[in-house]
Formats: sequence, C-alpha cells, structure tokens
Amino acid sequence: MKQRKSGLPAGLQIRVPRTPAEREAAFHLRWQILRQPWQQPPGSERDDLDAREDAAFLVIAVDAAGEVRGTGRLHRIDATTGQIRYMAVNPGERGRGTGRAILDALEAEAARWGLNRLVLNAREDVVGFYTRAGYAVSGPAPTLFGAIPHQRMEKSLAKPPEG
Ligand SMILES: CC(C)(COP(=O)(O)OP(=O)(O)OC[C@H]1O[C@@H](n2cnc3c(N)ncnc32)[C@H](O)[C@@H]1OP(=O)(O)O)[C@@H](O)C(=O)NCCC(=O)NCCS
Repeated sequence: MKQRKSGLPAGLQIRVPRTPAEREAAFHLRWQILRQPWQQPPGSERDDLDAREDAAFLVIAVDAAGEVRGTGRLHRIDATTGQIRYMAVNPGERGRGTGRAILDALEAEAARWGLNRLVLNAREDVVGFYTRAGYAVSGPAPTLFGAIPHQRMEKSLAKPPEG
C-alpha cells in the first residue's frame, strides 16, 4: 500500500477556494472557531480585505467529501512584510499537520509575493504552534474581546538562492 508522506488526513487538499460556496464555508469555520465561542455575531469574522477576492490570500483545507476543515489568510502590510490571520482548524482534526500545511501554503505565497517577513498576533495557547514553525515572540499584542491574551510573533522568510 502506498504510504502517505505526512500525517495529514487522507484526501485532504490544501488550496485556495474554487467557488463562492467554499469561501463562505471558510468564513463560517472561522466564525465557529474564532468568534462564536466569545458570543461574536456572524460577520464579525471578516474584515475589509475579505470583501475582495484579490485583496488577501485565503487558503482552505478541504476533505475528500468537499468539506472545509481548516483555513488561514495572508495579506500584505507593506512592500516586504505580510501578516497571517484567521488560522483555524476543525477541533476534531487538530494535531495531524493540517494547521502547519495551511501555514506552509501561506508562507509559500508570501515568498511568491517577494515578502521577506511575516508577522501575526498569536493567542497565547497557540504560541507553541507558531514557534514550531519558526516564529518568535516579539512582544505583547492586544487582548481580543477583553479575554484572549495575544503575543506578537514574527518570522523572516528565507531568501531564494541567487543566480
Ligand atoms: C492553531 C491551530 C490552527 C493548529 O492547527 P493543527 O492542525 O492542530 O496544527 P498541526 O497539527 O499542523 O501542528 C503542527 C505542530 O504544532 C504543534 N502544535 C499544534 N498546536 C499547538 C499548540 N496549541 N501548542 C503547541 N504546539 C502546538 C503540533 O504538535 C505540531 O508539532 P510537530 O511539528 O512537532 O508535530 C489549531 O489548534 C486551531 O485552530 N486552534 C484554535 C484557533 C486558534 O487559536 N487559531 C490561532 C489564532 S492566533
């Protein structure tokens, strides 16, 4: 039997949404994981950059049945720096590499954009996830909803080899 190279769930695809329904499913998952537990209304999971498809880079993890199981987003801050936001993986599927695969896809896109630095605000309980991926804490970040402490983290992206 052919062995998978990673622990990612079989049939899981990491890619951009292909339909408006897949984008909506990504936003819904974002809301369920990052907003609903703090009584934030539907819609609170989006910002202005989500209104236009080309304003930010949205990634989804889609299972074999076509269900969106994870998501994350990259946007540009300036000519050299990007920000990762809205990382969320379905609770039942965490710890199998899905979050890392989404982050890798966002980083690959940042490199394609020519960015050399990524920043993010990490909930304190997931600082370890980002540390494993090479991010370092650079200072405190604002507390969300008066309840969720965050740390500012950043990572330098490797420059492509010259020549
Ligand atoms: C953070 C999150 C996206 C990680 O997704 P995931 O699919 O569970 O992550 P992975 O399985 O790809 O983990 C990659 C590595 O990070 C580690 N890791 C994952 N979550 C971690 C955590 N909370 N603390 C420390 N390490 C963690 C894994 O053990 C794994 O380590 P390894 O490389 O040694 O095997 C997911 O836990 C989540 O959606 N959390 C709730 C929403 C949230 O807090 N989002 C971030 C907002 S800033």
